[in-house]
Amino acid sequence: MGLYAIGDLHLHFQTPLHARGQLTGLWKDHEKRFRRNCDALIGPGDTLVLLGDHSWGRDLAECEEDFRYIMALPGRKILFRGNHDMFWDVKKTPQLNERFGGALTFVQNSFAACGDAALVGTKGFVFEGPFYLDRRRRIVGWDEEKERQAEKLVRREAERLRASFEAARAAGYRRFLMFLHYPPTSILEERSVFTDMAEEYGAEQVIYAHCHGEDRFHDSILGERNGILYRLVSGDHLRWMPERIL
Ligand SMILES: [Fe+2]
Ligand SMILES: [Fe+2]
Repeated sequence: MGLYAIGDLHLHFQTPLHARGQLTGLWKDHEKRFRRNCDALIGPGDTLVLLGDHSWGRDLAECEEDFRYIMALPGRKILFRGNHDMFWDVKKTPQLNERFGGALTFVQNSFAACGDAALVGTKGFVFEGPFYLDRRRRIVGWDEEKERQAEKLVRREAERLRASFEAARAAGYRRFLMFLHYPPTSILEERSVFTDMAEEYGAEQVIYAHCHGEDRFHDSILGERNGILYRLVSGDHLRWMPERIL
């Protein structure tokens, strides 16, 4: 029974494409390559975590084709929320789960079980600038108003993450795999409320997405830190090959 993860499918079967970069290079026909990779790798007893930014659709009606595509992928599908998922109102997560009747599992303020491990997580958030650079492209400052706004969003997401850990703990789970759509730290940070919480609960791994393009792949922590394995699973970073987590 394998556990796989990938983020940022950014599907657009029904919606006009908002990202021109999705027409060329690694993104060209990415949904076809991803489907082939999944079919070759994932069996019916396996679990596939999709780590946010599922669709460009602005509401559920605009995502129907995208969800049909996701449902046809092999294995059990667990979805976390990304910053572009306009169809997903946090408060209406139970209705979303009801609507897809177990074919897809949407995780928010709760967890999903995979063997003896609990898959916990939330969208997360990090301050992404604007940063001010000097001529050598070194950061010399940033928008402090935007930084204050980001702190509020980070606090709210931290509460949601704690709710997820606590739900898993109350259900008797002691093994945790932590999923965030955003990276766990900003480019200014060595640690954050998210890395602290991963350490507090003893998460084995922190898996995140959201970072697109070579320039962003090293924005946050990669590899082992304080006994926790940090992994970036954004689709273009993985070249559309789901990453084996367990
Ligand atoms: Fe994305
Ligand atoms: Fe994102």
